[in-house]
Amino acid sequence: MNQISLTIDGKEITATEGEKLLWVALENGIYIPNLCAIRDRPEPAAACRLCFVEVAGYDRPVTACTEAVTEGMTVNTRGERALRLARTGFELLMASHKVDCGHCPANRSCELQKIASHLRVKLKTTRFTTLLRDIPVDDSHPEFVYDANKCVLCGRCVWACRQQDRAAFGFAHRGFERMVTTFGSKPMADAKCQDCTRCVSVCPCGALVLKEKEVAKT
Ligand code: FES
Repeated sequence: MNQISLTIDGKEITATEGEKLLWVALENGIYIPNLCAIRDRPEPAAACRLCFVEVAGYDRPVTACTEAVTEGMTVNTRGERALRLARTGFELLMASHKVDCGHCPANRSCELQKIASHLRVKLKTTRFTTLLRDIPVDDSHPEFVYDANKCVLCGRCVWACRQQDRAAFGFAHRGFERMVTTFGSKPMADAKCQDCTRCVSVCPCGALVLKEKEVAKT
């Protein structure tokens, strides 16, 4: 693979041609908000719409997780148009997210907190009407707890689960009702889960947490 040179936020970077811009930036210490991207996933889902950046010569911001790096590319991760899109996407997402950091096992390791800080917006949006769901927390599994009220629908857990021989859960329903659930909406303990807990390790927030973390928090 060819090595190419590009500039991100004024920093000269060498990368492998065709590598996705998001990973090149992150691996060079330049943070771009992201929720749905997974390094091992060959085709990005591009579902969260948070990783917008501006590229010189392009007429509109692009998602860094889908954009391949090319020779001479000049990228601005702090452009006002890109940040505006990311802020709107994030605040809309947070309008249906239960914010209760003080009682959440993911507190301080949560990607949502990191993104809010980076974008300089509050976790509890005042710009959009808050509309929360009230879904029972599923603590039936011996290893982990699933709180769908905190899920941001990034799909990382669904992808990770599908890498196993038998997928235990996926997306169901549409619109506001859309959620990650087991097939037939059975409790996690009754799903085809193989107890690998990869879903927990890729969850960016407190929707899927190990029970040992839950206990430590109480
Ligand atoms: S990380 Fe690019 S759209 Fe989610």
